[in-house]
Amino acid sequence: MRRLAADYTGFFHWLHEHWGDVVYFEVPNGGHCAVFDPDIAEEALGRSPELFQKDTPEFAFEVIQSPCLARTPFGDEHRRLSDLMVTAFTPERTAAFRRIAVSEASSFAEELAAGSTVDFRAEVERYTWNALTTSMLGAGRELGPGPGLAMMRAAKLSFIVFAMPGYRLLRKLPLPHDLKARRAIKPLDAAVYDSIRKARDPDSRETSLIAHFVQATERGESDWSFGSDSEIRDEAYAAFVGAWDPAVHAMAYIPHYLSRNPGVRARLEEEVDRVAGDRPLRAEDLDRLPYAEACFNELLRLQPAAPLLVPRRAVRDTSLGGYFIPRGTLVDVVTHVMHRRVDHWRDPGEFRPERWLEGQACPWGVYRPFGIEPRGCKGVPLGMAVLVAGLAALVRKWRLEPESDELPADGLEVGILSSPIRTRVVSREAA
Ligand code: HEM
Repeated sequence: MRRLAADYTGFFHWLHEHWGDVVYFEVPNGGHCAVFDPDIAEEALGRSPELFQKDTPEFAFEVIQSPCLARTPFGDEHRRLSDLMVTAFTPERTAAFRRIAVSEASSFAEELAAGSTVDFRAEVERYTWNALTTSMLGAGRELGPGPGLAMMRAAKLSFIVFAMPGYRLLRKLPLPHDLKARRAIKPLDAAVYDSIRKARDPDSRETSLIAHFVQATERGESDWSFGSDSEIRDEAYAAFVGAWDPAVHAMAYIPHYLSRNPGVRARLEEEVDRVAGDRPLRAEDLDRLPYAEACFNELLRLQPAAPLLVPRRAVRDTSLGGYFIPRGTLVDVVTHVMHRRVDHWRDPGEFRPERWLEGQACPWGVYRPFGIEPRGCKGVPLGMAVLVAGLAALVRKWRLEPESDELPADGLEVGILSSPIRTRVVSREAA
């Protein structure tokens, strides 16, 4: 536990180096089986999702009471709810999400001031919050990220409580972070219910994710129907929690990787300048920025937003990769190790976006930043639009120089980063 708490990802690299591709270990909340091999990961999560069920404790997100897609056990209900989420990404709605991402990204880059020093983590929290809440709720909501921050802190503290002995008892106490989250979330609740009400208007042309939930279920276009508005609210919150944290996480590393790799930065600047020239960035440009997208593939390889996929619980005694797995074992697929395996990747420690533009760059099944189907991420088009638009808008104007050489550290904040990322904003013209 000491080793795990002190260096979360280092602990799993140590397990892999010393014990191999499948490792059983115990902590107070039970037996775990860490998986570092892509075929065994696919065997469990891809081929037997009904046997290895996602194990998100129901109390982890106190402000979300309904099961939601991310927590619904694999089976018909999960299939129907997945379908509802995936069908949100029609060409029309995806184009609308991209326009929102580009517009918010342009404001984000415009608001930075040359020569200033900012906390880059707070900046990307605000940008990704604006882009995601506008996509999910619709335009015209002037909410800062306060409610989301309180909700994320409460969720993360709950996971820590979950790993402690006596967690069931602890969880029944009125914990201060939950009380704070309940209070802080009120303005967001008001905005969500307002968005649901507006989407019910038969003349509504709203393209938000919430409007899709409401309209697809009301018009009978979907096999899934929500029982109440609070279920719709919970689904939107769950999608939001699942989307915001990884987006902040991925963007927060940009200054470090670009300032350490001036060749990559120069190629990225050249691509963005060539595509957008002197005019404002447009949504259609996102398709013409393959190098910017490759930068995120590479960032998510080295710094996956989920270094460990959500643990899956074996629902009965079984075997995995030829090893006996007792019922109740939690299976942890460790992407942070898989993404850096020397036997699968050339120069795995190097930040080299070019590898994504060369054939054979990604060995099959070893790259899992969006999880594993059928329980993989359902929001990739929106997530990638937010990331690529943010990066393109930044590099058009600025070079970002972090004050410290240290990589952002894991912790309790959104994006699992614990401290501010003090970053100098340098105008490209002055650089
Ligand atoms: C860069 C952004 C994103 C990253 C890196 C990311 C990553 C992930 C990962 C790793 C998982 C699988 C977790 C596991 O199996 O343990 C996942 C699941 C999920 N993601 Fe994302 N995500 C992103 C954005 C989004 C967005 C924008 C949405 C919604 C609009 C979304 C909705 C979901 C949902 C609903 C699931 C659960 C699927 C299920 O359990 O069947 N994600 N995501």
